[in-house]
Amino acid sequence: MPQFNDHALTEQVLESFADTPNARLKTLITELVRSLHDYVRKTDLTFEEWNAAIDFLTRTGHTCTPTRQEFILLSDVLGVSMLVDAVNHHEREGATETTVLGPFYVGEHKPMPRGADISVGVAGKPMFVSARVTALDGTPLADVPVDVWHADDQGLYDSQKPSYETDGSSLRGRFITDADGRFSFRTILPRSYPIPTDGPVGQLIKAANRHPMRPAHVHFLVNAPGYEPLITHVFIEGDQYLTSDVVFGVKNELVSKVVRHDEPVMPDGKPASGPWYTMTYEFHVRPGEGHVPQPLMAAE
Ligand code: BEZ
Ligand code: FE
Repeated sequence: MPQFNDHALTEQVLESFADTPNARLKTLITELVRSLHDYVRKTDLTFEEWNAAIDFLTRTGHTCTPTRQEFILLSDVLGVSMLVDAVNHHEREGATETTVLGPFYVGEHKPMPRGADISVGVAGKPMFVSARVTALDGTPLADVPVDVWHADDQGLYDSQKPSYETDGSSLRGRFITDADGRFSFRTILPRSYPIPTDGPVGQLIKAANRHPMRPAHVHFLVNAPGYEPLITHVFIEGDQYLTSDVVFGVKNELVSKVVRHDEPVMPDGKPASGPWYTMTYEFHVRPGEGHVPQPLMAAE
């Protein structure tokens, strides 16, 4: 019969996993047990606190639906998503910086012709995005699918609205690069927005006196065959939340100057009824392969 003291208990638990046949699983579980036990010892965790933690995680699970992933949100606000990103991208070799996928990627966006407007029927200031995908040596990459998505003028993604079921997607699409690696589209100028705060993660943010805001950005997922999938955003220079993103996702290289225009005719030949904007960005991808995350929701 083992005589448990707190350190002997840790050794007993580690021993119980000693015969795990999958070596990677054994490492992951062993280190998890070590870290959790250290945490309990360091904090002198009380029964009430442990019960509260279990209740929090239970509510986090219950908040998840086919269109809402509260666990991703938790990982994001704890900085774990960006840490996983960092440890997996130590070697960049000049490739574009990566950042969080976020919970609003629905995958397999609807293919659209280059130059299409992804903001039809959505209020906002017109913005024209021109981008290019190249290899690390500058060689343009043709026929590359690029998924793009962003929030509306009110800070909401289409998939957060009840109308998504009936009306389908907006402010998202898939573009294929041309022979020179280029693609472009019309949309609206995004704005900074709060992550969902009506669940347990929102309660945590509030309890910590943190704000829930993300700086304005457009998401890009560049998936060139033979290259590492690039999951990133382009942020808008000057946003007040660039230095305090609630999910720690901003990297300097991803901040872009979005230029205001007052000319009467926009690049798509349509008359302007006010100021309009342009965003340009060049994505550099590195050779390799990789896993494109599974979307939260079924493809359209
Ligand atoms: C997003 O940018 O869509 C996002 C990322 C992390 C948490 C919530 C939203
Ligand atoms: Fe976003």
